[in-house]
Amino acid sequence: MADYSKKIMVTGAAGFIGSHVARLFVKKYPEYLIVNLDALTYAGNLENLRDIENLPNYKFERGDINDEKRINELFDQYHFDAVIHLAAESHVDRSIIDPLAFVRTNVLGTASLLNISLKHWKDNLENKLFYHVSTDEVYGSLGKEGFFTEETPYDPRSPYSASKASSDHFVMAYRHTYGLPIVMSNCSNNYGSHHFPEKLIPLMINNIKNNKPLPVYGKGENVRDWLFVEDHATAIDTIFHNGKIGEKYNVGGFNEWKNIDIVHLLCGIMDKKLGRPAGESAKLITYVKDRPGHDMRYAIDASKLNKELGWKPSLQFEEGLEKTVDWYLQNQDWVNHVTSGDYQKYYDVQYEKR
Ligand code: NAD
Ligand code: DAU
Repeated sequence: MADYSKKIMVTGAAGFIGSHVARLFVKKYPEYLIVNLDALTYAGNLENLRDIENLPNYKFERGDINDEKRINELFDQYHFDAVIHLAAESHVDRSIIDPLAFVRTNVLGTASLLNISLKHWKDNLENKLFYHVSTDEVYGSLGKEGFFTEETPYDPRSPYSASKASSDHFVMAYRHTYGLPIVMSNCSNNYGSHHFPEKLIPLMINNIKNNKPLPVYGKGENVRDWLFVEDHATAIDTIFHNGKIGEKYNVGGFNEWKNIDIVHLLCGIMDKKLGRPAGESAKLITYVKDRPGHDMRYAIDASKLNKELGWKPSLQFEEGLEKTVDWYLQNQDWVNHVTSGDYQKYYDVQYEKR
């Protein structure tokens, strides 16, 4: 193995945000070795990383974060200096159907990864880092006013957010009890390329394109704070390199939108791109039964990250959304593979038959 200045395990890098983080690190830091550890669940797609898969400082290792033997072997093989932990079950609707899958990966998996990191690092914790990527959903739901700060008490309300809150507590417990060097960030809703089309924005883009109903939960008045995924990746880069050990940082777009307004915005963009008469796509909007326990509003105060580490989002929402729509329209093969399930065969073709 070449002499890399840092060897970093990025968990969940075949997923949406993880693939953007891996791409940023692999390209920006050729002196680092980036090892993508991913179980390739339904949400993991190696096609997301095609442009970097042959670069010398990128490696893919298939594995489950709960598989202690496998993770221990990888620590022995690569001598990681850092873990950037993104692997998770991430979809609120799925957590309502199968909460225990979220406990297994998000709670038990994170605890296991912390435990293994500590075991391998405890004799020399210097220059080691466990970076835990979390969500604003741990803070609960806001009314019309106010923002989540790093001091907001946790109040998770879905099985997904409860599992992420629990993982956050384990991370802090490993800091306080064992002195494990950690940092953590809690981010708002991401959007951008390679987003699995079961989440709001890619689902709406795909349905508009295919003239299918646009399912808006409840009255569509729930509010989310949206951040371009590549800006989340730069925030992670900033915090990884400059964040204070033991601290947490909120990451957000200062960009609140009601769901129904986003759907209308997307319909307008798509009408233009597809050459449809104005107002045509909006006819597809269909109000459906609300998500059980649907959180009303999330809004992140990311001023700590801005003031202390100088990070801020680079893109306006309308610009980012247009870029995102363009990506989906230009990458219909990716969408077809994901929606048909073909993307799951890519691993066999790319890796097992080598
Ligand atoms: P994703 O669902 O797109 O990707 C998750 C990845 O983790 C997939 O590649 C999957 O194969 C892998 N994975 C799942 N279970 C695993 C296991 N047991 N072992 C190894 N790998 C496993 O998720 P995402 O949207 O990219 O989110 C990444 C992280 O960021 C998550 O921790 C999520 O909670 C957090 N987050 C997401 C958002 C968002 O808007 N998507 C916002 C804030 C925080
Ligand atoms: O806030 C950060 C979180 O954002 C992350 O931690 C999660 O991993 C990520 O999935 C996301 O959670 P949300 O539940 O906010 O995202 P989702 O895209 O599922 O839904 C966004 C909003 O749109 C939410 O209010 C529910 C609504 N919605 C969603 C879908 C899929 C609809 O109205 N219709 C839909 O079909």
